[in-house]
Amino acid sequence: MTVETSAHTIMERCNLLASYSEEPGRLTRRFATPALRQANATVAEWMRAAGMTVRQDHIGNVIGRYEADRGPFGGHAQTKTLLIGSHLDTVRDAGKYDGQLGVLTALACVELLHERNQRLPFALEVLAFADEEGLRYHTTYLGSRVVAGTFEPDLLRLTDNAGVTMAEAIRSFGGNPDALSQSKRRSDDLLGYVEVHIEQGPVLESLNLPVGVVSAITGSSRMLVTFTGQAGHAGTVPMSARHDALCAAAEFILAAEKLARSQPGLVATIGQLTVHPGASNVIPGEVILSLDVRHQSDSILEDACQQLQRQAYQISEARELSLTWQHVQKYDMTPCKPYFTQLLAQSIEAAGYPAHFLASGAGHDGNTMSTIAPIAMLFVRCKGGISHHPDEAITTEDVTVALKVMEHFLTLLAQKREQGQIS
Ligand code: GLV
Ligand code: MN
Ligand code: MN
Repeated sequence: MTVETSAHTIMERCNLLASYSEEPGRLTRRFATPALRQANATVAEWMRAAGMTVRQDHIGNVIGRYEADRGPFGGHAQTKTLLIGSHLDTVRDAGKYDGQLGVLTALACVELLHERNQRLPFALEVLAFADEEGLRYHTTYLGSRVVAGTFEPDLLRLTDNAGVTMAEAIRSFGGNPDALSQSKRRSDDLLGYVEVHIEQGPVLESLNLPVGVVSAITGSSRMLVTFTGQAGHAGTVPMSARHDALCAAAEFILAAEKLARSQPGLVATIGQLTVHPGASNVIPGEVILSLDVRHQSDSILEDACQQLQRQAYQISEARELSLTWQHVQKYDMTPCKPYFTQLLAQSIEAAGYPAHFLASGAGHDGNTMSTIAPIAMLFVRCKGGISHHPDEAITTEDVTVALKVMEHFLTLLAQKREQGQIS
């Protein structure tokens, strides 16, 4: 198998996995759903065929392990593990590369080694995380939080739109919500965590580069904001007597846009609105909105969230509504590890391209994995920078370059490890 044919297989597999969806005609694959079960089972089968031992941990991550070279004396005492992977869940009406590409590229790296009967002086584990996007429970990185040991058990009580608690969802997916802490990985066993991902932005395309090295992953905050007013008859309640929760939410949405536009690098998104009771002849009595705010400076991000919270309270007071502000999650800006990024840069140059460093405006599992291991990411150019959209597109040629870079990276890492330069 050449790297080119392997890249071709990755593209075919992305197409196949994209057919495992909760919704006909478009890709939506939330945490712990039958569609994710299909994706997990298929990936597990490919992992086994590539010489890996495979298991599913308590949250539902699929983990394939490719053992290290045992050395001349069959010893294993010093064996460390390099984790490579990404996620198999998606957003609603998703593209087919966000997450899937990283899992399948990691798998392809092992397939290439296995075919050559080659082992490295460290074990490789391919991780396919069960939740990165947070679509089902509004809270991201469930898979990697369990691996990193930063999962808070209170989350188990969250319910999805159908009233199913996270604990129930985990159980029905074959996991054990009471044993999640057993799936945490020990930091001293790990060499690091590396992820290949589409860029989801326009930088590499504008520079005419197939791949780039991620320098850091942006910080982000997610909130759920509830405006509660008074539902009533759309024909009889005069405008002056209304406490319309949706009008308050609309005012807040525009305030968030205005604030984000006034600060370079700040982005604020309200991507989901739930309007109760939700009928055309009833004044909205309650609106729950999701708010996602990001900036590469943690202090600017923090200030922006506080400012938006004050504005939300002012708007609801002026309209005589009540407000609940729930901070769902917060991640600081996460730098990638320089000794890994330098090896990735060297590998890109060895493939014949200049190494361009760029920050990620999207969040990734590296945000959580960095708490237990040094992290690095390789970005792959995507068409028009389009992502979280079915038009996501990449080329087999760029995937070929990404695979070559990853192969070279693993070779360099193996050399450094053998020379004792990386512990
Ligand atoms: C993940 O895709 C995120 O950045 O929200
Ligand atoms: Mn995504
Ligand atoms: Mn992703």
